[in-house]
Amino acid sequence: MPLQTTTHIWHNGHLIPWEKATTHVMSHVIHYGSSIFEGIRCYTQGETAGIFRLPEHMRRFQDSAKIYRMPIAFSLEELQKAVVDVVEANSVAPCYIRPFAFRGYGEIGVNPLKAPMEIYVANFPWGNFIHVDGGADVCISSWNRLAPNTMPSLAKAGANYMNSQLIRMEADINGYVEGIALDRNGYLSEGSGENLFLVRNGTLYTSPLANSVLNGITRDSILILARELGIPVVEQALPREMIYICDEAFFSGTAAEVTHLRSVDRIMVGDGTMGTVTRKLHDAFFDIVNGRVEDRYSWLTPVKVGKHDAVGEMVNA
Ligand SMILES: Cc1ncc(COP(=O)(O)O)c(C=O)c1O
Repeated sequence: MPLQTTTHIWHNGHLIPWEKATTHVMSHVIHYGSSIFEGIRCYTQGETAGIFRLPEHMRRFQDSAKIYRMPIAFSLEELQKAVVDVVEANSVAPCYIRPFAFRGYGEIGVNPLKAPMEIYVANFPWGNFIHVDGGADVCISSWNRLAPNTMPSLAKAGANYMNSQLIRMEADINGYVEGIALDRNGYLSEGSGENLFLVRNGTLYTSPLANSVLNGITRDSILILARELGIPVVEQALPREMIYICDEAFFSGTAAEVTHLRSVDRIMVGDGTMGTVTRKLHDAFFDIVNGRVEDRYSWLTPVKVGKHDAVGEMVNA
């Protein structure tokens, strides 16, 4: 997908022009993958705009940094303000927000501790990640998700996405929109960039954090909404074949939002349409983010922006 530019990017405490946000090719991150990041959506609600679960995203950002011993010289409040500042400076909504931090320029060698930290927040207009009409046709990947105690799944680190890229490329080449990876023990884990939910006999199932999944903020939101709606929720290790015999399945994630699965390995999920439990959760989620109901969990941080479909230039268009 071509990148859409905006005008400002936040860098280490200041807004700088988009084109000045560059780094040297000898930066530590380029050689050793030493980066962490977040992906956040800013939704519009009629005339207003709100960033979805900003504190939770920036808390996960801090968690990722902590796991990788990356010093972040900004508090949770300052990081949230950085996001609000850049969204308001670029004045574009709805948009996708990308906070990221990496080990920069000045040291070479695997030990990263003396490399300087660079922290950025960018945002840009972005549409649906998984383009599907009538549900996603997905496969089980031949690649496993990150094994425990190898690459930490609870850190949203750039390097984890080399595994995601293998899953995604394989799916794409074989004619699927996405791949679902198993964990090292053969249990269902997650998609290359989404958490996975199944429904059978009215009960909602999802893999626990121990099955090498990212602790998705959308996943958490779905679990909150399910409990509110009285839908029984089970977090347990799920055998692969559970996805072939479930009544409904869907992905959750910042990019995928709530995307129902039509088929897995060409086996139809239910009758292929969005099932009733998925529909309830899908609608409850979009009712909040699109402002059709009160934001009863205070999930939206208000921002002052004009509304534009596009600003700046498309790169690689
Ligand atoms: C590997 C992976 N799993 C799950 C998710 C869903 O997480 P969230 O709902 O916080 O976007 C993402 C997206 O960030 C992801 O990259």
